[in-house]
Amino acid sequence: HRLWVARREDGRFYVLFGRCTHLGCTPEWIPSMEKFKCPCHGSGFKADGTNFEGPAPRPLDRFKVSLAQDGQLIVDTTVVYPGQSGKQSDELYPESLLSV
Ligand code: FES
Repeated sequence: HRLWVARREDGRFYVLFGRCTHLGCTPEWIPSMEKFKCPCHGSGFKADGTNFEGPAPRPLDRFKVSLAQDGQLIVDTTVVYPGQSGKQSDELYPESLLSV
């Protein structure tokens, strides 16, 4: 589905859109380096989606995530929280974080 479901240390979930904000390639998670790395031009993103190296101009976008009554996570890819240059998505979009 080209997305990553991630969990912060405080237990809250968020969902990143797996599309590089440079030219749209799909970054890969590199566990040993704890970052997403884009194979096309080398952009790097922290676990929260923040861009920190390479040509990507802004953080990865996020999708809305909610909890179903049966406990499953529901990802709504029609609701996108666009990463904004120089801003933390956690602070910009607190609604992108799901507490369970
Ligand atoms: Fe990802 Fe260029 S498309 S760095």
